[in-house]
Amino acid sequence: MSACDRGTAAAAVLGRLHRGALDARPGFPVWAATGEQRESTDARPRWHTSMDGDWTGGFSVAALWLAARDGTGRRRDAVEAMRRLAPALDSTSAFRGFLFQHGAALGDVLLQDAEAAELAVTAARRLAAGAHPVTGVIPLGEPGLVPEGCQDEVAYVDAVGPTVSLLAHAADRSGDDGLRDLAGRLALWTLDALVRPDGSMGQAVTYDRRSGEVLATYTAEQGLRPGSTWARSPAWGLLAAGSAALRCPAVADTARAHGRAIADWWIARCGDAGWVPRWDFDAPVGDPLDTSAAAIAAAGLLRMASAEDGVPDGAAAVYREAAAATLEHLLAWVTPTSPRDPRTAGMLTGGCYHRPHGLAVGAELVWGDYYLLESLLISLAELDVNRL
Ligand code: GLY
Repeated sequence: MSACDRGTAAAAVLGRLHRGALDARPGFPVWAATGEQRESTDARPRWHTSMDGDWTGGFSVAALWLAARDGTGRRRDAVEAMRRLAPALDSTSAFRGFLFQHGAALGDVLLQDAEAAELAVTAARRLAAGAHPVTGVIPLGEPGLVPEGCQDEVAYVDAVGPTVSLLAHAADRSGDDGLRDLAGRLALWTLDALVRPDGSMGQAVTYDRRSGEVLATYTAEQGLRPGSTWARSPAWGLLAAGSAALRCPAVADTARAHGRAIADWWIARCGDAGWVPRWDFDAPVGDPLDTSAAAIAAAGLLRMASAEDGVPDGAAAVYREAAAATLEHLLAWVTPTSPRDPRTAGMLTGGCYHRPHGLAVGAELVWGDYYLLESLLISLAELDVNRL
């Protein structure tokens, strides 16, 4: 897609996600094979779906809320899809933060939907109930990802940013400042544990379930090896740091310091390399890229830029420019990628879900589409980054 028209790209990505959300019913879109444009026989590639929302169901519901706000979609479709996420309130997964920030809190932000507001507050309280009383860390709670027989707890950086936003939103809505305090502690504990001295990041922490003491940090199964930097670790970390810097005033300075370290590392590694990283920063040259990591990073950089606004000697302009450059490069990956590309418009190609499992490599990923869309809308002043 032409790199110069963000509005056209945003409308196309929103249209793609909106249709995907409707077509996937009663499930939720997760990823789609995009094919090479010259081989494509299916102009509208089918989404692989999850029936229960998994960790990804909220992204397409967010598109339904955005479409309802713009008048291109119907609010009742967003409400219906949001209600299908509600059973996940009872899951143990820390990834619920993704579902209810994007699938419920956004409906309150955009449309002041009372049911969405109530669901967001309920979800925030459920997550808070499982948090460590001192550190604020929320255990991963995904049986398939915690090593069998592990007596300690595990936490990932992945959902921390959206969970921070959800807790802060719920604090605004309910007046319960304990939820904002928890959001700040969760963000700082995670970043303290996982941001390395050079600004790169691990993904996962093993910690003592009683004391909360950090026992080990590593990159989990989606990365190249335990000590490598999986591309989405710093991307999720940047989102967490930026969200905490914006939404949790009590920890904003420390969150910004972590965010700067990650952002500066990211810019140094990606700025001369097309702004889209390989799926793992330690993977060999020629390995697949992950556009979804770049899209998440753009959303994190825009949060960091807003958090740095007004800070003496702050880096707001640097981060805004880095986000803009990332978006310009990502638009080249959005269909149509050439005038003769027959594929449906608005797909962010080139995502990498799980390279070691060979899952959705070179694919369209629902969260890549969503964070690209969110970043485009922030840069077009159609979304207020301070409320996300
Ligand atoms: N679990 C979140 C991710 O795959 O990035």
